[in-house]
Amino acid sequence: RPDTVCRIGEVAFKNPVVMASGTFGFGREYGSFYDLGRLGGISGKGLTLHPRPGNPGIRVYETASGMLNSVGLENPGIPAFLEQECPFWETLGTVRIVNLGGGTVQEYAEGARLIDADARIREREGRRAVDLIELNISCPNVKAGGIAYGIRTEAAREVVREVRGATILPLMVKLSPGAEDLVGMAQMCEEEGADAVSLINTVPGMKIDVRRRRSVFDNLYAGLSGPAVKPIALRMVHQVCRNVNLPVVGMGGISSAEDVLEFIMAGAEAVQVGTYNFVNVQAGAELAAGIERFMVAEGIRSLSEIRGIL
Ligand code: DOR
Repeated sequence: RPDTVCRIGEVAFKNPVVMASGTFGFGREYGSFYDLGRLGGISGKGLTLHPRPGNPGIRVYETASGMLNSVGLENPGIPAFLEQECPFWETLGTVRIVNLGGGTVQEYAEGARLIDADARIREREGRRAVDLIELNISCPNVKAGGIAYGIRTEAAREVVREVRGATILPLMVKLSPGAEDLVGMAQMCEEEGADAVSLINTVPGMKIDVRRRRSVFDNLYAGLSGPAVKPIALRMVHQVCRNVNLPVVGMGGISSAEDVLEFIMAGAEAVQVGTYNFVNVQAGAELAAGIERFMVAEGIRSLSEIRGIL
């Protein structure tokens, strides 16, 4: 079998296929379609310190160019996640990533401290439920905080620094395609001690209902994802890989094994698959198998032979 292992610091992924936050819940539902142990990893739905109801009104809208969402970080809150989902996560044979959201620097840091404290307690008992934190500074759908950090490097620096100081868990920062200086943002993450960056979050967009003469979304704007954003994401991933000395997890419109390999050839260590989970519930298992088939057919023994080969 070809070698598909990917690494972020000490964390080893058996293959590059990671399920993207917000498209996979905490994995329970997809676990009835295939063995989640076939995945490189999963990133759970974005969590905040306190439970959030999410945005009112329509939250997802399908367009000819992909999916728009304005979910608004609906989630049960970190304490409920630790209590209700972590026993299940302990049993998963794949890398488990907590996606951490927030509105203020303090809220992000407090969330990271809770996750860290819980991980230490489990560790003492020889258990583990979380391998990595993905710091989400790029949600386009929340008014306070969120994307404001994703756009401005110096605002984001404060969040990354505080969260870095709040946990010893490996830290990956999820970047926005709307960043004022994407490469500068990724370099800042490196300077502040992050272990990896992931990109891209959804592309800010909108949809107007012309009969009602108003936006489809109560929140006005939404985030676009799916195949339309893939070329944009691929270029951004390539630019970041060229200029930053950190593992990069690439995402944006991936729906085939060849798409995964494009991101790896652009320099990504691993990838995330989001919208395609809604199109094909077997996405994760099929992509993981497809990559191996491609490697065998092309005589590639290890992903390291093609990573960043461009
Ligand atoms: O498109 C997104 N939607 N990106 C995020 O980071 C969060 C999510 C939401 O909950 O709105």
